[in-house]
Amino acid sequence: MSIRKITEYPEEVLARVGEPVTEFDKELKALTDDMFETMYDDHGVGLAAPQIGLSLRLFVMDCDGIKLVAANPEIIETSGEDTGQEGCLSVGKVPAVVTRAMKARLRAQDVNGEWFEKEAEGYAARCFQHETDHCDGKLFIDHLPKMRREMVIKKFKKEKKWG
Ligand code: NI
Repeated sequence: MSIRKITEYPEEVLARVGEPVTEFDKELKALTDDMFETMYDDHGVGLAAPQIGLSLRLFVMDCDGIKLVAANPEIIETSGEDTGQEGCLSVGKVPAVVTRAMKARLRAQDVNGEWFEKEAEGYAARCFQHETDHCDGKLFIDHLPKMRREMVIKKFKKEKKWG
């Protein structure tokens, strides 16, 4: 296992729609092991393949008691609304308030290619939505009004310069 380098805004791969995962083999297992290791190392609760430079529809998460690998993820059902803080390892974890669905039902394939569905609420549902967005080339800041989006980017760039 190894820790991969995290791609950061505005790297192009983060804005690209990922390619479907088609091979459910040892390599995919090794890749998801690396993704978990990279995510834990950076104290994240979710990590999508574009965040390590791979344009693939794949994410891992370990959030609010839900630990899973999701290949070819789709949000197939949502309900309610939840406004809360979130951040992203690719945007230096600068937090912003984003409105998401309160409940979300995820459909995806596991590391062996088996389709599954999983429902979550609150923080874990937010994670489903955030990570599925990554697979569609979308960042959480894309949900923000222009001014707030620019503020997050500005703060991120400033922190990067100091870091
Ligand atoms: Ni993210």
